[in-house]
Amino acid sequence: MFKFGDRKAVPGALALVIVIWCASVQAQSTAKQVSIPPPPLGWSSWNSFSNLINSQIALDQAKAMISSGMAKAGYRTVNIDEGWWLGHRDDHGNIVVDHKAWPALAPGEHAGDMGNIVRAIHHLGLRAGIYTDAGQDGCGTFSPDLGPGYPGEGSENHYDQDFLQFARWGFDYVKVDWCGGDKENLDPAVQYAEIARSIARAETITGHKLYFSICNWGKNSPWTWAPNVGGVAADIWRTSGDIVAPIVANSANSGRMASFPGVLSNFDQGIHPEAQHTGFYNDPDMMVLGMQGLTEEQNRVHMSLWAISGAPLLVGADLTKLSAATLAILTNPEVLAIDQDALGLQAVKVAEAGKGLEVWAKPLAKAGERAVLLLNRTAAVAAIPVHWSDLGLLDSSAVTVRDVWAGKELGTGPGEVTLQVAAGDAVLLLIRGTEAKWTTYKPVGVIKLDGSMEVVPLIKGHVLDFADVASRAAVARIQIVYRNPETVVRFAELRVNGRIATRIAFPPTRRDNALGMVTTESLLDRAGAKNVLSFSSSGETGLGIESISLE
Ligand code: GLA
Repeated sequence: MFKFGDRKAVPGALALVIVIWCASVQAQSTAKQVSIPPPPLGWSSWNSFSNLINSQIALDQAKAMISSGMAKAGYRTVNIDEGWWLGHRDDHGNIVVDHKAWPALAPGEHAGDMGNIVRAIHHLGLRAGIYTDAGQDGCGTFSPDLGPGYPGEGSENHYDQDFLQFARWGFDYVKVDWCGGDKENLDPAVQYAEIARSIARAETITGHKLYFSICNWGKNSPWTWAPNVGGVAADIWRTSGDIVAPIVANSANSGRMASFPGVLSNFDQGIHPEAQHTGFYNDPDMMVLGMQGLTEEQNRVHMSLWAISGAPLLVGADLTKLSAATLAILTNPEVLAIDQDALGLQAVKVAEAGKGLEVWAKPLAKAGERAVLLLNRTAAVAAIPVHWSDLGLLDSSAVTVRDVWAGKELGTGPGEVTLQVAAGDAVLLLIRGTEAKWTTYKPVGVIKLDGSMEVVPLIKGHVLDFADVASRAAVARIQIVYRNPETVVRFAELRVNGRIATRIAFPPTRRDNALGMVTTESLLDRAGAKNVLSFSSSGETGLGIESISLE
């Protein structure tokens, strides 16, 4: 059953197991991409309400999420950001909130119980999010123009207690900020690892999952450690500062404007494709779409940039006041499908026709499909070409091009398409063709005495290498075919040329003991077939890797 090529033996954990591998070119695997958690879709209170958030506002926004049609389009999470508590704790260190701001909402409830608003949000079929800081203070004290801000709004020295409390209240999502941590000069990788462990403990105790959002604005490059903090991965991590400080109606800052350069800058800082895969996401910040300062075209470009990034789409505007045009942008099903695509990957810049004339491509789950953004950052209209070869597609006259926002097929043709893009604008395309050549590297197998196993298990303490690996592009798309016979997601680390690259999640593939596939993008820094990709697992699991394929 196995083809034996160049052999190399590695001692196995069991005396009778010998791991042997070789790199060989084979047909692409027929394994199916497994579904992974998509980036979250929701709303967050900070951009429009800052420290003034309260129960009524959260409830009104949740109701607007439904009445506007956003929930139907997929938006689900209502996030309460900073301002929900004033830093008070009782004698046991428990968080105490303002009873007037967070009253009882149903018979039998008590004022000051954050579980009240969670139940009300859940009752609407939505999910609820909460906020804290990794240090002793939150960020509120740094912005006195934004309403009252109080010291002591952070969770430091109370990690276990607070995250357990959030889970007991029923929150589904927690954003952990960094103002206090930064002020105290703490190490974010260390603090967030501790927090990840506290969250894991809270989840074990309550049986309730807390989606973990790190917000340290890209300091110390969280994309290099956040998918693997403390052995418990964060789900999303901020990659940059805030696009805009809050714009609160009828307040001193109500004249502030969101800016399009801010949107572009956060997009640029959010691109770390090597860390975004299997349910872990770079977070370029809550959107300012629909807030004052952007034109309708800029709102559309903003949505295109976040969708092509596969970014969390967390709306910062007041949902009770969205215009029909903004709502149409936020709920466009084809654009949301690009954001939520099952591969969970990010766009990579594949060409630059001239300074500021960029082609970005996001690989989609369906073979041969790419979401492509032609972005014109210049002040003049320009022609931007996109070549099929830059997308990893075979050159064929059957390649089809669809303008996503126009909802219109633009035609088919060989080679390339060139489109006129207005100054400061972008065109979002769906391009369908045939995948160019992929190369499969297949470990030969594990020989047990009975010769039975063909998927190489990741035995704790051992490394599974794929050597002599080459790719068409520097950012290589890698399909990993695996088997995880367990009931829970298992993780393995991938190193590229000896460097810690990222931690990959492998959902269970139990049904029929089938093979599954997940897809990553890795930076291969050696030209030609000189790269070594190594997988290892720090836990004892039944996870095994069958092959990897690269374009
Ligand atoms: C920081 C974060 C924002 C928001 C505020 C709250 O600025 O980056 O997203 O949470 O703190 O004060």
